[in-house]
Amino acid sequence: MKVSVIGAGTMGVGIAQIAATKGHEVCLYDSFHEAVKTAENKLKKILDRLVEKERISSKENEAVLEKINFSNSLENIKGSELVVEAIIEDLGVKQKVFTEIENFVDDNCIIASNTSSLSIASIASSCKKAERVVGIHFFNPAPLMPLVEIIPAVQTSQETLNKAKSIIDSWGKLTVIAKDTPGFIVNRVARPFYGEAIRIYEEGVADFSTIDWVMREIGGFRMGPFELMDYIGNDINYSVTETVFAAFYFDQRYKPSFTQKRMKEAGYLGRKSGRGYYDYSSENKPKPTQDRELGKKILWRILSMLINEAVDALFLKIASREDIDLAMIKGVNYPKGLLTWADEIGIDNVLKQLEELQAEYGEDRYRPSPLLKRMVKENKTFY
Ligand code: NAI
Repeated sequence: MKVSVIGAGTMGVGIAQIAATKGHEVCLYDSFHEAVKTAENKLKKILDRLVEKERISSKENEAVLEKINFSNSLENIKGSELVVEAIIEDLGVKQKVFTEIENFVDDNCIIASNTSSLSIASIASSCKKAERVVGIHFFNPAPLMPLVEIIPAVQTSQETLNKAKSIIDSWGKLTVIAKDTPGFIVNRVARPFYGEAIRIYEEGVADFSTIDWVMREIGGFRMGPFELMDYIGNDINYSVTETVFAAFYFDQRYKPSFTQKRMKEAGYLGRKSGRGYYDYSSENKPKPTQDRELGKKILWRILSMLINEAVDALFLKIASREDIDLAMIKGVNYPKGLLTWADEIGIDNVLKQLEELQAEYGEDRYRPSPLLKRMVKENKTFY
């Protein structure tokens, strides 16, 4: 089966690498000549490093490269059964490219978008056969992150959904099905990990390094929120927050922060610019206040907000309870599924924390999900 990838940037190269490794003939297309050259060199380096680390043999390395046709001509996608688009995050540009793709592929070809924040319905609307369009959302770095969100649009046929899922499953990925709503599962449910952490910092409750220490040492997360934002890039993380906020008709729960906006404006983008919340040129790392009493309060506040988001996603049928838990473990390395975590600490305790925050601040931001209230009333658990 031939697979084409449109856009040879960060995500496109990773997706092409996966498909070629799984034995597919691959066309990796980009409209910019330079981008194609850069992609080829980048992939060669990645594969060479895998050979050095003895993860693959040099024969496998050659086989992967042989499978990929790095191309500047869209005509070369002819004969594909799956096309995955990973170009810039711009609806107009994506729609134009989807219309063009349809001119070169057969009727049985699935056309997928790797978009993080645009609606699949709006992208699909640019195709004659909109039922063949679906969202296939990989995480960065695509070859390493096990999770892939599959997003059917209102137009997507059951056949397209089944086929897309079975191809990605056969690539050894863990697929979850998500509704075509802003942020799908992961980028929606994870918002408070950043937003509430920043809010706690803004109120002067604790500094960056203390909040990071709390989430790592007490919460068991792999990285603290500020380290993670510096890793993702404050420009990217801020724009996802801003997009999700606008897409939810300015629901206060997703409100972006001035702290991160200023970071972005100052060019303090994180690791990639040498400075973000932390200064990466300095040997002197700020020392966290290792106060466990305070730490528990901080963890409680962020965790309750995360759980509330997961419960609300379940309430609004964004995904199944199993998929919501799996997505956060496999997509962003959370130590536990949030609904499982809620059962462990007691959903009545989570509700109490949210009600206290809502009463204290008087903000809609802290409103508990109706499902959480209902479940506490009926004395239920998630599993
Ligand atoms: P990127 O900027 O690294 O790569 C985009 C590529 O698309 C560039 O090589 C560019 O030359 C090419 N391109 C632009 N316009 C084009 C056109 N009209 N036709 C063909 N190629 C064109 O972007 P990145 O980070 O790889 O993101 C791509 C998509 O994947 C976006 O929709 C993004 O939201 C999504 N995504 C990104 C993730 C990330 O962490 N970077 C994670 C998951 C999804």
